[in-house]
Amino acid sequence: MRRLHVDLGERGYDIIIDRGMIARGGIAEYLSSPGGKTAVITDENVDKYYGNAVTSALRGTAAKLVLPAGEATKSFETLQTVYEFLFDFQITRSDLIIALGGGVIGDLTGFAAATALRGVPYVQIPTSLLAQTDSSVGGKTAVNTARGKNLVGAFYQPRAALIDTDCLKTLDDRTFADGMAEVIKYGCIRDEKLFDDLARGEIAEHMDDIVTRCCDVKRAVVEGDEFDTGERMILNFGHTLGHAVENYYNYQKYTHGEAVAVGMYNISLAGERIGVTPRGTAEKIKRVLTKYRLPYALDVDAAALRGAMALDKKSTGGGVNIILLDRIGHAVIRNMPKNEVFQ
Ligand code: GLY
Repeated sequence: MRRLHVDLGERGYDIIIDRGMIARGGIAEYLSSPGGKTAVITDENVDKYYGNAVTSALRGTAAKLVLPAGEATKSFETLQTVYEFLFDFQITRSDLIIALGGGVIGDLTGFAAATALRGVPYVQIPTSLLAQTDSSVGGKTAVNTARGKNLVGAFYQPRAALIDTDCLKTLDDRTFADGMAEVIKYGCIRDEKLFDDLARGEIAEHMDDIVTRCCDVKRAVVEGDEFDTGERMILNFGHTLGHAVENYYNYQKYTHGEAVAVGMYNISLAGERIGVTPRGTAEKIKRVLTKYRLPYALDVDAAALRGAMALDKKSTGGGVNIILLDRIGHAVIRNMPKNEVFQ
């Protein structure tokens, strides 16, 4: 078992990485008040594997809401279903909500927890690699709107993130690769040794270690900039381009991680062009992306991408805040005109 503490004062919490904790029935030992009411929110894929193991490990009264799997669930319509479930269960602010699933369930449940009764405590139990290394830590919660993804949300920190890396065994290859893009991102922005390990080695036996290293980078960045006004933007390396690519294809062609992979490679080429990123960096990134079955080539023209990023949250009046690498393992933020980013 590994434990990291996200030090945000009274909003601080632990990230527990404990392989096998769900099957062992060990969830309750990490909950600070396991005796009250607990509302578990999950999706039908995750429920099949872990729903009963989690609910039966809880002490006190538990209720479970199983939602359809997929991005369409992160909607206002489903949010309404979540609120009704919570209020029918007569949830109070001294009870607990558990988000059991990947990024969609984590973001939606987190937003419901932030807003129901103006805030009910919640715990993240992330089951995908992307959620274990990124979205379950740091308190970003959201729902999508017709104008774009994650445009409505709140910063609302969980009481804990409980990570069981055994969950990774039930992911299909594409979903695993989706999360690997974020893992590679952490190597690029903050952990050269992680990047080298990914480039060199077999990772299957070391996932606890890898997830812990990613969470530790995220912990440090979030501690320094909880509300995403400065340094936290480095977590978006590859994301501005990636979001534009995802948006251009209406979220159908690429997974988030695949689009971020394309973004990391191509923004590194742009960084090399303007002399911030050392020559050869994009090529190193390409090799690692390919190793983990991720794409790198950009198949959308620049003008279309400029349009597709109109609502990116990193946009400012004059340009866009872009994350570049000045070396592998170190990221910098540059405000650049859109036409320099998309050439
Ligand atoms: N996923 C980026 C962040 O949490 O800031």
